[in-house]
Amino acid sequence: MTASPILETIGLSKTFPGVKALQKVDFRLFPGEIHTLMGQNGAGKSTLINVLTGVHTHDAGEIRLGGTPVDFSTPLEAEAAGIRTLYQEVNLCSNLSVAENVFAGRQPKRRGAIDWNAIRTRAEAALAELNVSLDVTRSLDTYPIAVQQMVAIARALSVDARVLILDEPTSSLDDSEVARLFDVLRKLKQSGMAILFVTHFLEQTYAISDRITVMRNGEREGEYLARKLPVELLVSKMVGHDRMTERMKHSATDAPAEKAAAAPFVSMREVGRRGLMNPVDIDVQPGQILGLAGLLGSGRTETARLLFGAERADSGTMTIGSKPVKLRSPRDAVRRGVGYCPEDRKKEGIVADLSIRENIILALQARRGWWRPI
Ligand SMILES: Nc1ncnc2c1ncn2[C@@H]1O[C@H](COP(=O)(O)OP(=O)(O)O)[C@@H](O)[C@H]1O
Ligand SMILES: [Mg+2]
Repeated sequence: MTASPILETIGLSKTFPGVKALQKVDFRLFPGEIHTLMGQNGAGKSTLINVLTGVHTHDAGEIRLGGTPVDFSTPLEAEAAGIRTLYQEVNLCSNLSVAENVFAGRQPKRRGAIDWNAIRTRAEAALAELNVSLDVTRSLDTYPIAVQQMVAIARALSVDARVLILDEPTSSLDDSEVARLFDVLRKLKQSGMAILFVTHFLEQTYAISDRITVMRNGEREGEYLARKLPVELLVSKMVGHDRMTERMKHSATDAPAEKAAAAPFVSMREVGRRGLMNPVDIDVQPGQILGLAGLLGSGRTETARLLFGAERADSGTMTIGSKPVKLRSPRDAVRRGVGYCPEDRKKEGIVADLSIRENIILALQARRGWWRPI
């Protein structure tokens, strides 16, 4: 017996001004499976999810839930029909408590009033499922972004649904947090839930998926059983064959074979700050990309913030462009040619109430100094 899909799209298309984000996409999701949507940035993964769940309308095609055509005009309608979604952009209320965030919009009530005790204990229970234990009465923004992501996941997991959709839920989680999430997903799958998972981490895809749908340039490239799709083949399907061979040609010819070591542009010696980060040595040369790897809390963000003057170092020496510097503020760093794109981009990287133009002007003006208006 072959089960029939719980959620299905037939010839689904969506165009944004100038972009064919989805082109005649056929997709199916079965009960009791974990199905991963893979594809490069911009392939249309989030758009598919947004159209499925009523965030965006579609131009053509059909969506079926349990065999019946549906057309949700809001995410709430999709939720009411049993589709629970964690969107790529985590939209929680940072000034509310963790518990309120887990239950926002569906607070348990007692005699017509919000039952705060129930909210607290149920939020704790939802987080305990993920092995997270924290003070749920504290406001969400007092926790780091990875913890906030766990809260968003707990929120998504804390309702009964037939379909669970998670768009890149693991982007800022460390390995053990990912493992905990996967344990929960496997349990839910066993209970018959259909899970649609989006990630661009290949290892995670193979760790969790039964089936993989590959998207490329808004089209469905294909649907595969995970255990029958070797990883090299998956990558070539995501990238496209032409691009793949082109890239291989390039990497063969212009590999910048060990260049003679240039003088570093940035050099940190024993730079640290007591209580925040132990001293580190770092050199970055012009034309080089340096990756900082490590677990949550290992000091990657802190290193970047020290280099941008957002934290002040209390030990060590730093040079930028071969001049010794003491960074007292981000402005000092900007003047010496350091730019910073923070981890929490929505909160620290932009002023969302201003236009794109105003945001850029703000940065340019900061570099020029406030006494010389643009
Ligand atoms: N709200 C929007 N308005 C205009 N263009 C969009 C919007 N959302 C997505 N796009 C465009 O649609 C394409 C697919 O994007 P997306 O679905 O976010 O890709 P993915 O999630 O696979 O990275 C991209 O070219 C993107 O720029
Ligand atoms: Mg996306």
